[in-house]
Amino acid sequence: MHVQIHISMKRKSFLSLGTGILAASSFKSANAKILDAQYNDVVSMSNSGYQEFDWKTLRTLFPLNNDRIFLNNGTMGITPYPVLKAVQNSFEKIAETAEYPHHSDNLEKILGEIIGADAKEIGITKNVSEGINHICWGLDLKRGDEVILTEHEHVGGCLAWLYRAKIDGIVIKTFALGKTADETLNNLNAAITKKTKAIAVPHIPCTIGQILPVKEICTLAKSKNIISCIDGAHPLGMIQFNVKDIGCDYYAGCFHKWALGPIGTGWLYISQQRMQETKIFHVAAYSANEFNMRSNPPSMGPILDQASRYSYGTFCGPLHIGATKALEFYQKIGPSRIEARVKFLAEKLQNSLLEFGDKIEMLTPTEEKSRGAQIGFRIKQSKKDNPNIGFVNHARSNQMILRHVAENGLDNIRISTHYYNSEEEIEQCVSLLKTYAFG
Ligand SMILES: Cc1ncc(COP(=O)(O)O)c(C=O)c1O
Repeated sequence: MHVQIHISMKRKSFLSLGTGILAASSFKSANAKILDAQYNDVVSMSNSGYQEFDWKTLRTLFPLNNDRIFLNNGTMGITPYPVLKAVQNSFEKIAETAEYPHHSDNLEKILGEIIGADAKEIGITKNVSEGINHICWGLDLKRGDEVILTEHEHVGGCLAWLYRAKIDGIVIKTFALGKTADETLNNLNAAITKKTKAIAVPHIPCTIGQILPVKEICTLAKSKNIISCIDGAHPLGMIQFNVKDIGCDYYAGCFHKWALGPIGTGWLYISQQRMQETKIFHVAAYSANEFNMRSNPPSMGPILDQASRYSYGTFCGPLHIGATKALEFYQKIGPSRIEARVKFLAEKLQNSLLEFGDKIEMLTPTEEKSRGAQIGFRIKQSKKDNPNIGFVNHARSNQMILRHVAENGLDNIRISTHYYNSEEEIEQCVSLLKTYAFG
């Protein structure tokens, strides 16, 4: 009773607050009609290029406080109102109707259209790490088999492989990222031996955000009969890609970073050719169509030859609905427009940082095809102790959120630029850096 009253009051306040121009504000005080009008304004601009597009109006569809400059989308995307609203409505509907959220393949279908996969090749997970675990433990590897990773892995990209090395004796090899796509490919090629069974690399590493030449990597892998596994935490929502064109066997991604879906939503692509040979260790509802505990012996039907087998058991239906809405939102704004915008902001940032000359070390390649929407660099020649972590902390105390990359001893700053960021925010960030490190 108490819970019911609370929810209906919340809904009322969400729907009935006064009119006026909506500044980014809390979800509870957002006016639904204004939001809808702004949403329609934004989507009606579908013919304009990224420079003419009204990114400022689009920003008002995000509850992110106006005094916050969020340049850390690489860790977690911020959720826009339409997605929050879809999640809230879905939770309320379940509470009001007591209808169980049965698994449908809506989300898989829309994602499949975006990344060029069949819906049957896509499983829904809770994050990238889960997808990578399914891949790693599902491969038929024996002691001494080699798997190649980069030196720039995220903990979620490498821990499963390192643990499998401990348990099963597989051997992990690494290679350095190059300053160009060709150099990266050459470094990888040099790490391949007769024992290499899999290559498991990020499409875009979390450290310095360069775009790896995954198509060339997968072509190389195929030519040597090596399995290709891509950690795709970042590309969805940032750059356009097609898994068939890349030619990978496995690709683990998420909705909660650049696609701006709800936190705790991920996906896993397994090419149809690899599906049957991939082992699976966690199964339940949706993994097999039949079982019978009263036959003698008790029995079950075959494990499904499709990736829905990974979406086993009761799942958070409202989050799947939110992820679907995020993809619709992404498509309405326009994938090519978004890609142009986020890259434009990153290039602007990189160029401004390069003006500091030897005072900084630029880590993200300047090569256009290797640059996405994240820039990694280190501060040099500053009088400050530990200037990289120092600047990230200083920025945070000024309501500007960046990422310090401590992993693997890299000690660099990473700045992410999404479409909701503005050119002014980039300028403010560079100016803050100037006064902090070299003032
Ligand atoms: C490259 C990369 N791989 C894997 C992960 C882990 O993703 P998740 O937190 O969705 O499991 C991240 C998270 O930042 C990442 O950047």
